[in-house]
Amino acid sequence: MNSIDDVQAALADQDYVCGPALATVVFLALRLGRPLFLEGEAGTGKTEIARAIAAALGRRLIRLQCYEGLDAASAVYEWNFAAQMMAIRRAEATGAAPPDLYSDDFLIARPLLEAMRPDPAGPPVLLIDEIDRTDAPFEAFLLEALSDFQVTIPETGTVRAPAPPIVVLTSNRTREVHDALKRRCLYHWVDYPDHDREMAILAARAPEASEALSREVVAFVQRLRTKDLFKKPGVAETIDWAKCLLALDMIDLSPEVIADTLGALLKYQDDIQKLQGSEAARILAEVRAEVA
Ligand SMILES: Nc1ncnc2c1ncn2[C@@H]1O[C@H](COP(=O)(O)OP(=O)(O)OP(=O)(O)O)[C@@H](O)[C@H]1O
Ligand SMILES: [Mg+2]
Repeated sequence: MNSIDDVQAALADQDYVCGPALATVVFLALRLGRPLFLEGEAGTGKTEIARAIAAALGRRLIRLQCYEGLDAASAVYEWNFAAQMMAIRRAEATGAAPPDLYSDDFLIARPLLEAMRPDPAGPPVLLIDEIDRTDAPFEAFLLEALSDFQVTIPETGTVRAPAPPIVVLTSNRTREVHDALKRRCLYHWVDYPDHDREMAILAARAPEASEALSREVVAFVQRLRTKDLFKKPGVAETIDWAKCLLALDMIDLSPEVIADTLGALLKYQDDIQKLQGSEAARILAEVRAEVA
């Protein structure tokens, strides 16, 4: 991927629609070997882009899904206690020499260690997903791991990546991630796509949908996002909704079908309640006026 246009084209081949701003940071991250930090609303394609980059480059995707309480040990490696116990028992039963319990045979590599290991296809893409779910100590640990691309296993030594992996971090901004970590990365805020880009995404992800239906769906969702909702629908919801409508053989929207399928778009009862009844019909009328 030698230019920003190349990046856009390569991601498009993976059915990922990428605007020029995002394509630019991806290009720079690859060119400068810097981690990419993507923050944004839910369901806007932050996780998916790591998958698309890996597929476009023919690299392995290694995913570290973050969660509350994730610690360094379970992100890097663990010892396989069960296998160690069995090896000890086997040695005792047969009178053989005691096994070396801290060898690679008993090591379970977790994503960070996995990403540091050499790969014939080239350095993998390491996706550190939803970093905002972890805590400050883990972030500090990550900062260190990402600065020298090596991890130390006390029992066996240090593993150093022959070439740094391509790192993509995502956050839903449920809390601010520390400046020190952000500073190391190229940052991009992934916003909801505008009308045209969302049409392009729908064409890539739900090609069965007619142009006319897609136009209504996208216009409706775009309008919905301007309303005061607890949780606005992301791109994932737009795609889901279009697929639901297709499964029901709908060729256009009506207030009834919207009411019946709102669960694909909105995931909170308060939001659904707001839309049920006249509000959906009103938005649909606006959409029709706009599309016409
Ligand atoms: N730009 C895009 N091009 C193609 N598909 C997209 C794009 N953005 C989103 N999608 C679709 O939306 C789905 C959801 O995207 P993804 O899971 O990457 O969102 P996310 O930003 O990681 O959301 P969350 O914050 O909830 O994890 C993807 O599986 C993909 O089908
Ligand atoms: Mg995600």
